[in-house]
Amino acid sequence: MKRAFTPDAIRGPSEALFPPWPERQRIDDYLTRELARAQERVAAGPAMPTLDMDAFRRELAGFDFAVPRPLPALLDWSVAMLEHGVVHLTHPRYFGLFNPSPSFPAQCADRIVGSFNPQVASSATSPAAVALEAHVIRMVAQRAGFPAQSAGHFTSGGSEANYTALLCALTRAHPQFAADGARAFPGPPVFYTSKECHRSWVKIAHQAGIGRSAARLVATDGSGRMSTTALASQIAADLASGCVPVMIVATAGTTNAGMIDPLSDCAELAERQGLWYHIDAAWGGAMIASVNLRSVLAGLERADSATIDAHKWFATTMGCGMFLVRNPGAPSAAFQVAASYMPSHELSVDPYMNSAQWSRRFLGLRLFLSLASGGWAGHAAHIERAVAQTARIRQGLEARGWSILNDSPLAVLTVVPPPAQGDPRAVVERVLKSGRAWVSLARFEERDVIRICVTHGETTEQDLSILVESLTQT
Ligand SMILES: Cc1ncc(COP(=O)(O)O)c(C=O)c1O
Repeated sequence: MKRAFTPDAIRGPSEALFPPWPERQRIDDYLTRELARAQERVAAGPAMPTLDMDAFRRELAGFDFAVPRPLPALLDWSVAMLEHGVVHLTHPRYFGLFNPSPSFPAQCADRIVGSFNPQVASSATSPAAVALEAHVIRMVAQRAGFPAQSAGHFTSGGSEANYTALLCALTRAHPQFAADGARAFPGPPVFYTSKECHRSWVKIAHQAGIGRSAARLVATDGSGRMSTTALASQIAADLASGCVPVMIVATAGTTNAGMIDPLSDCAELAERQGLWYHIDAAWGGAMIASVNLRSVLAGLERADSATIDAHKWFATTMGCGMFLVRNPGAPSAAFQVAASYMPSHELSVDPYMNSAQWSRRFLGLRLFLSLASGGWAGHAAHIERAVAQTARIRQGLEARGWSILNDSPLAVLTVVPPPAQGDPRAVVERVLKSGRAWVSLARFEERDVIRICVTHGETTEQDLSILVESLTQT
């Protein structure tokens, strides 16, 4: 057989991809300095992107990768692209969806991990990294009130953690689910969450092969919390029609309005019906850090599993979610697999046998460094500060005749202006256009609202005043 490629000599490494070390260090130092300068400019400039996207697309089209370009110039180009081409989560007046300005220890972790690039699929390949992640997960689970033997793993985010919960629930509900999928059940499997839930649940039902209609979106009580009366009726109706309920999901910190479902009542219902009980605390779960505030999560300790995103209120870089589970055997029942080429096959230990991902990044170091350097107390202070700042915004708006529609213990407000100031959509458009702050439009209990969420650990009193001023000036 004639080979298409017959090299006559082996050349040295590609210098563009693997520059000599002194050169790397020089570029790295330069990048560190430039990034710090860019972040200073971000904080002083607009929160919104300012890039001319038509011009940018034309520029992008010029990258046909035919002729290599020097890396330092490309790094300048990349920093400028992000400085001007995205909504700035690192801007102190980003009052947005729960995407944090990342903590510095988490950023350091990203850098260390990027340099070593460990493969965390297997305990044989990365024994220390696997042990460290398991330790962090255990500590977080115990802080959440789960028993000592609880387990779990890091995920790409809340969606993957929620998906993991559904697979665990389905696998526990029928011994043949692993082999036969939804066909194993005598009727359509269904699960319950509220209509204010994160919409990842609808995609998750699709991904798991039980269909989007299996996600029963239960009515709320008029204040954004799942109605347990409606939940009980829906379960009864499903049982009567031959469906097979498998799981109840309560949300602890709804995405729109930070509302907390009745966690203990849902636990009782799940127990009575023999259903898996999951709590989606993707955002609100970080309140476990605060001794002063954590009581709002009472009932979390009764769940079979929970989602807490480190990349939300624990302020790590994205994406860093966590799946916590009471029974460590549950994820391995769902994800175990035999692969002769893997260097280890320890069911209770190896991440590839206990989670949806295979190759995986070492995510846990971000939360480890954050918790180890700040302690629970540091994270408590971060959370309590955001809650206090939210109360300040509330006062400012109420004093100007605005209405606050949600009653959340978290750092989020859903607000509407007095009628004379225009509708929420117009106000959001005006604020975004000014670039002075970032807030969003949302629906809460069938109404358009302006959603304001304190996400940045360095937002100042002056930033709060500028926000209130930007919202209320006509
Ligand atoms: C309550 C809740 N659950 C799940 C998610 C999805 O998390 P992720 O975006 O990390 O996948 C979010 C995201 O905002 C959320 O607020």
